[in-house]
Amino acid sequence: MKKAKPITFHIISIFPESLTSYINESIISRAQKDGLIKIKTYNPRDFVAPVKTRAKNSDSYGYRHVDDRPYGGGPGMVIQALPVANAIKKALGKKLDSASARKEIKIIFLSPKGKTFSTEYAKVTAQNFADIVIVCGRYEGIDARILEMFKMEAVSIGPYVLTGGELPALIMIDCISRQVPGVLGKQESLEENRVSASRVYTRPEKLVWKKKTYKVPEVLLSGHQKKIDEWKMKEGSDLGGAVL
Ligand code: ADE
Repeated sequence: MKKAKPITFHIISIFPESLTSYINESIISRAQKDGLIKIKTYNPRDFVAPVKTRAKNSDSYGYRHVDDRPYGGGPGMVIQALPVANAIKKALGKKLDSASARKEIKIIFLSPKGKTFSTEYAKVTAQNFADIVIVCGRYEGIDARILEMFKMEAVSIGPYVLTGGELPALIMIDCISRQVPGVLGKQESLEENRVSASRVYTRPEKLVWKKKTYKVPEVLLSGHQKKIDEWKMKEGSDLGGAVL
């Protein structure tokens, strides 16, 4: 297995603030403070000039447009390729032109039609890439030429359509980060490496709710580790192997 290296996530989004609260909490926040991962955002709007052709009191004056009407017609607006390309260029700088650096860069285009994301995908990505660029779409999508301009992989987080790529980006950051050695403390060690059940219990031993008593399974109180592990294994597989 290759030696783990710090990973930098570069998120390209026209709504970067929507990511802030999640990445500044709990394990992902600690991972950044510990220097194990970095998360940077780039807004394509910063790479277009503000509108100056309208009157100063018009709503559009000073606005940075990144979208335009789709060729061939259709509803909604499409994000232009150039502001996104310039945001990616800003994120990666000279690395984009270096063949050896390029090998450690993964550029992901979020799309409900992409390859399905999984824990395995996260593991392989964490082990092999130092810079992960995640391009978040909005509206009707991004001009498809962006996929040809950079060698991108279209990735979906599941068979449903969201209003944008920001939630999928957070899911990917979370899942990939927990594969980076040191990100999970002892307490939260990787589920997939230990005997784990999807059902877990804590105090109190007997819980009363609306006059009904809910108990902890006897085996977990038995102190018999082998039996506990067997129970956890069975529980895990009953519920889809701890959903990994
Ligand atoms: N954008 C909208 N829906 C998405 C999905 N399911 N996966 C990735 N990106 C998306």
